[in-house]
Amino acid sequence: MEFIPKSRRPNRREFIADSASAIAAGTLGGMSLSADLAAATLPDRSADAGASPLQRIIVDTDPGVDDALAILLALRSPEFKVEAITAVAGNVPLEFTLANALRLVEIAGRTDVPVAAGASHPLVRRLITADYVHGNNGLGGVEFPPPKIKPVSETAAEIIRRIIRNSPGEISIVAVGPLTNVATVLRADPDLAPMIRSIVLMGGSLSGGNITPAAEFNFYVDPEAARIVFDAGVPLTMVGLDVTRQVLLTDEHINALAAGKNPSSQATARIMRATMERMRKGRDVTVVAMHDPLTVANMIDPKILTLSDYYVEVETSGELSAGETVGYTYAPARKSAPLATADTPPSAAEQAFRPNAKVAVAVDPERFFHLLLERLTGSA
Ligand code: BDR
Ligand code: CA
Repeated sequence: MEFIPKSRRPNRREFIADSASAIAAGTLGGMSLSADLAAATLPDRSADAGASPLQRIIVDTDPGVDDALAILLALRSPEFKVEAITAVAGNVPLEFTLANALRLVEIAGRTDVPVAAGASHPLVRRLITADYVHGNNGLGGVEFPPPKIKPVSETAAEIIRRIIRNSPGEISIVAVGPLTNVATVLRADPDLAPMIRSIVLMGGSLSGGNITPAAEFNFYVDPEAARIVFDAGVPLTMVGLDVTRQVLLTDEHINALAAGKNPSSQATARIMRATMERMRKGRDVTVVAMHDPLTVANMIDPKILTLSDYYVEVETSGELSAGETVGYTYAPARKSAPLATADTPPSAAEQAFRPNAKVAVAVDPERFFHLLLERLTGSA
């Protein structure tokens, strides 16, 4: 969803909470936030490397209305073997994102896919939600029956770790919520990173934020987690607001979903109709952007997005800018000048350009919507 307030003024309470925890974040968590740059050339294992016959993925998500479309798109696409769905707190608290993930596998008729509960809070910050967009239940306020199935007993971090360790080099993580679960498993098992085929994530922006002028929502919620993921050396694809703001849902798209005869199509039509109405009545958010399904769609059809090599750093210490992503296409990757009173000298600048992510820089919206609607409304 698009979160840019009409006024461009973020909620003051959120800013206060954010700045206090940003100050604390420098001393909490025991994390190394130093940039540990990835290899000079990125392995050709990212989402643009051409679709393999069957991609084995774990979907880490905070459903969330656009997450719902992303999950159903993944579950209804034969290009994927969805190994697990892991829920994280984000758009709404974990009790809702977890229940919604369970509901969505039921709606898709895919109760063979395990669903695990993940983090209920960001690594070191208070949880900020986006129920003003996603409704208080995360599905646009549309009521679905309680899920009949239960989450597996493993936590999100445990199941991610087990699946990847059992098939090193084969599993990609598709992360479309705050990166708390992914960072948690990377911290818990420092040897895991080289075993992950790729991380394809929705988050970040090189062209301004949607919850603050600087930050995209997923990275705003857990900037420390995002930083850990970018520093891990795993082949990364970042699908940020630069492209997701260009795929906007219309009433015609919703009508097409409603005309579909399967439960996934019907459910998404109801969710998106309610969301569109909420946006129209609301003060702040005005458009419905397809952030998360775009991220999944490009793994099916890599011609939807154009990707470029970047070295991306995530801001974690800013009073106003935590979660901002700064992208370099050149070296040296300079940091801010040190204060005159600082004890430490400026760190040596990197002399070689060492990208750590492929960043989506252009999108073909028509191609995306064609795929999305075909997959969600099909009879299969
Ligand atoms: C991201 O934030 C969430 O609200 C959406 O689900 C998407 O993952 C967009 O900034
Ligand atoms: Ca999401």
